[in-house]
Amino acid sequence: MRVSEAIDSRISCRAFRATPVPKNIVMEILEMAKRAPSGGNLQPWRVDALTGTPLADFLGIVRAKQRTQPAGEGTEYHVYPPNLHEPYRSRRFKCGEDLYATLGIPREDKPARLRHFARNYELFGAPVVLFFSIDRRMGVDQWADVGMFMQNIMLRAREHGLHTCPQEAWAIWYRTVAEFLQLPADYMFFCGMALGYMDENEPVNKLRTERAQLAEFATLQGFDT
Ligand SMILES: Cc1cc2nc3c(=O)[nH]c(=O)nc-3n(C[C@H](O)[C@H](O)[C@H](O)COP(=O)(O)O)c2cc1C
Repeated sequence: MRVSEAIDSRISCRAFRATPVPKNIVMEILEMAKRAPSGGNLQPWRVDALTGTPLADFLGIVRAKQRTQPAGEGTEYHVYPPNLHEPYRSRRFKCGEDLYATLGIPREDKPARLRHFARNYELFGAPVVLFFSIDRRMGVDQWADVGMFMQNIMLRAREHGLHTCPQEAWAIWYRTVAEFLQLPADYMFFCGMALGYMDENEPVNKLRTERAQLAEFATLQGFDT
């Protein structure tokens, strides 16, 4: 698979098959992903992978807590900036509308939308979760490094026929994640990622999200042609 094919075929997969992912494949993906660049080569990422019994135990803990704490535990960082402004506000809105349109859920049907969102906490059926954390003393530049590491994982996964869904939804369970993984106190949980084989028959996976025109985010100067 060419890099361009991996980039183009990566989408946020929201319905997975239960087919397990072998340990050697997960390890190979992480080994390859660690070639990501990082400022000063700090490699400021930490990743914890769960599958099988530990994953079932973890999801069971969250499911039980959801009964008394439906909104989770709050978050340690702003998942979005407060008072999200334009054009970002509209992009976020459009992305949600397009997603629910693929599922045939109208705007008025809030319960159905919430039920779909709650599928985040079942990993959309994926057999593997990756949890990404970072040393709290790190700054915005190192958070960017973690993003590049995550992108490498998502692209390399495509070469193995696997799909992913990065999931900041897990941020509202940061205490439970940290406790379950026994993260050192210095580490802040950032984001989860579902990993597995896509269920190609599920309409939700047909969503192809929009992107802004190049001119909206790029300038090019000094090129000859
Ligand atoms: C850091 C990060 C966190 C995300 N968190 C979630 C999430 O919790 N649940 C979800 O369904 N999608 C999540 N997404 C997926 C985005 O909605 C998605 O990347 C965006 O709409 C573009 O669509 P695409 O990934 O299919 O190209 C997240 C993406 C990123 C990069």
